[in-house]
Amino acid sequence: QGCKLIGCGSAVPDLLVSNDDLANIVNTSDEWISVRTGIRNRRILSGKDSLTGLAAAAAKNALQMAKVEPDDVDLVLMCTSTPEDLFGSAPQIQRALGCTRNPLAYDITAACSGFILGLVSAACHIRGGGFKNVLVIGADSLSRHVDWTDRSTCILFGDAAGAVVVQACDGNEDGLFSFDLHSDGDGQRHLNASIKEGEPHDGLGSNGSVVGFPPRRAAYSFIEMNGKEVFRFAVRCVPQSIESALEKASLTSSNIDWLLLHQANQRIIDAVATRLDVPPERVISNLANYGNTSAASIPLALDEAVRSGKVQSGHIIAAAGFGAGVTWGSAIMRW
Ligand code: ACO
Repeated sequence: QGCKLIGCGSAVPDLLVSNDDLANIVNTSDEWISVRTGIRNRRILSGKDSLTGLAAAAAKNALQMAKVEPDDVDLVLMCTSTPEDLFGSAPQIQRALGCTRNPLAYDITAACSGFILGLVSAACHIRGGGFKNVLVIGADSLSRHVDWTDRSTCILFGDAAGAVVVQACDGNEDGLFSFDLHSDGDGQRHLNASIKEGEPHDGLGSNGSVVGFPPRRAAYSFIEMNGKEVFRFAVRCVPQSIESALEKASLTSSNIDWLLLHQANQRIIDAVATRLDVPPERVISNLANYGNTSAASIPLALDEAVRSGKVQSGHIIAAAGFGAGVTWGSAIMRW
């Protein structure tokens, strides 16, 4: 059983926040941010905007391109680390799309690697049998989890959603050639938004005497990051992972039409491309406009590249995600 990508879509919030806007709230400058990261603008969820709504909009666009009706969707995978419901948001998206057959929908949490893991999960479900059309959505709103007084992190992130439709096909048409996936829990100390000890619940007293034990209300810290360590990890692990995925597909970097990395930092993208010997004109980059949108960044950049005519039918793409966990992984695929 093969599987192939047949549609993509994306959606971003209306509110645009420029580097100059950030320079009004923290001690930074457009020059510092653009030279160190390549980022110029980002979009931020505000007011009544919801991430679930953004994800549903991206998914709708992908279904339209794929010419797949909501009722023909067999599975919705929502890759996010910032769900609006801790118990999972994929069923809400399934509902918003109008999938009346009640197909399975669940969340995958793997930060900036989430979308690649979603693709692998889609392929596994399809190859295992019983699933034909799978929606893979990458959506995150890290703006809700950054400390807006911390100039070293708040300049990096933006909010967005991207989606693809993966469809079952004959084995000889298979478009997802190979994967390479890893994680290393030791790296969590360099990048996390961990649970911290919360306040006692209201009405229980300081020792929780009412119920005889001290329950705590959950609270998470803001994103904490050692930028230099994350940078080193990405530049070391991502080229190795792509090379290993290419080898599994019996390809080399000279066979790929596009290198599509998680959009975290232009310097990481450039360093990985140089190590793999991929020239700049074959590298997809849109982080200047959106910043690091976590699980959304790969499908968002793919969607823009497809709709602008850069990525065309039959092109081979090496995609790689990397981020908190730490987790990293690559996929070699045909558009
Ligand atoms: N504006 C101005 N100065 C700043 C800013 C800012 N926004 N942020 C930090 N600085 C200062 C620091 O305080 C420091 O000053 P000091 O020398 O007086 O102490 C100086 O700039 C250098 O700081 P560094 O942190 O050493 O800067 P670095 O060159 O490492 O760049 C950066 C920081 C851009 C964050 C870089 O390390 C990076 O991009 N790392 C990768 C991060 C990343 O991609 N994270 C996302 C991972 S994906 C995920 O899963 C969320």
